[in-house]
Amino acid sequence: MDKLALLGGDPLIKTAFPAWPQYDEGEQQALQKVLDSRIWWRTPGTQTLQFEQEFARYHDARHGIAVTNGTAALEVALGALGVGPGDEVIVPDFTFVATASAVLSTGALPVLVDVTPDTYCIDPEQVEAAVTERTRVIAAVHMGGHPADLDRLAAIARQHGIYLLEDSAHAHGSEWRGRKVGAIGDIGTFSFQASKLMTAGEGGIVVTNDDQLEKLARSIHDCGRMPGEWFYAHFIYGSNYRLSEWQGAVLRAQLARLDSQGAIRTRNAAYLDSELSRIEGITPQRLDQRCTRKGYYAYIFHYDRACFADLPTARFIQALNAEGVPTQASYPPIHQLDLFQSQAYRARLSPERRGDQHGFLQEEFLNTLRGARETVWLPQPVLLGSEAAMAEIVRAIRKIQVHANALRA
Ligand SMILES: Cc1ncc(COP(=O)(O)O)c(C=O)c1O
Repeated sequence: MDKLALLGGDPLIKTAFPAWPQYDEGEQQALQKVLDSRIWWRTPGTQTLQFEQEFARYHDARHGIAVTNGTAALEVALGALGVGPGDEVIVPDFTFVATASAVLSTGALPVLVDVTPDTYCIDPEQVEAAVTERTRVIAAVHMGGHPADLDRLAAIARQHGIYLLEDSAHAHGSEWRGRKVGAIGDIGTFSFQASKLMTAGEGGIVVTNDDQLEKLARSIHDCGRMPGEWFYAHFIYGSNYRLSEWQGAVLRAQLARLDSQGAIRTRNAAYLDSELSRIEGITPQRLDQRCTRKGYYAYIFHYDRACFADLPTARFIQALNAEGVPTQASYPPIHQLDLFQSQAYRARLSPERRGDQHGFLQEEFLNTLRGARETVWLPQPVLLGSEAAMAEIVRAIRKIQVHANALRA
């Protein structure tokens, strides 16, 4: 094979992967319609309202409450669940900071636990061991679009009389046993930030099948108002988390494209799963049989440096990028963030709980560490590439393996 691109050779992939975000006249017309209507905010509008209903229906949920972003969605959901100072929420150590920081925003403690070694989703065994009398919620993250083990987690939640929240920021369109994720647990959240599978630049939604949780979440997202009541009547603590009409209109057009894009990602990911599994040292994220459809926020695989002349993951990624394969960073373990290691998070806790010992700060969480240091993430637009492009990704990885020694020199 040719010389590595990182060492001055020709990049293996010469055509760019599809641009993201994608749009067409659907978004353009929708935006123009909002502009012309002069109704640009949600309260008197129709677009965000319709989007909520369409997205909820698509995700097998009775209710959807559109909000400003995925972090806000978590804050609103936790508020609806009544989480507050003195409470604990069990959160995976391998996730984006928002899953934990939203818990801190309520004054509760995120209790961090490890993930499984193959799906990188929260480990039910660890969840079970972490439940205390203060636990109110299990916050599962559907990592890279792969659902957490919703059977086990729902059973644990039921057994202990606590809630199951699905942080589905990565999982638009994902299914567990033929049912869309989000409202399989008590409440779920999605993000529509720019890198997500559908986007309005920013945005989020809370979904639930529970009428009471819907009522609370809707009120919290709209300054504590209640439907049908006077505009200046405020019944509970809330804030302004409303999504604009622009975003509602764009997201309706984006939702219409999700299934066709999802089919392409699924086909390409299946090809990569089968081809990359043949390369010694590369192990794709495991696909649980109960995951009947995966949203693929990212294509994640484990990289074993021992099979690549001991090249560190970062060097492998450099070589892959040089060959024309884009990647996105994996997450660092949450408990290793400055927010936690500096103890700054304690300022969010109630004074009585602020001085408690938190064992998770000293934990190693080996599966999270492995996920953080040894996985490679291909951003989801890569999976919209052609079949030929998928074959080139496989060739690029093989090329690096063959020449790994040259990179060590
Ligand atoms: C797992 C997870 N939860 C929550 C969020 C927060 O979403 P947002 O960026 O829309 O606030 C993200 C964003 O990337 C995420 O990856």
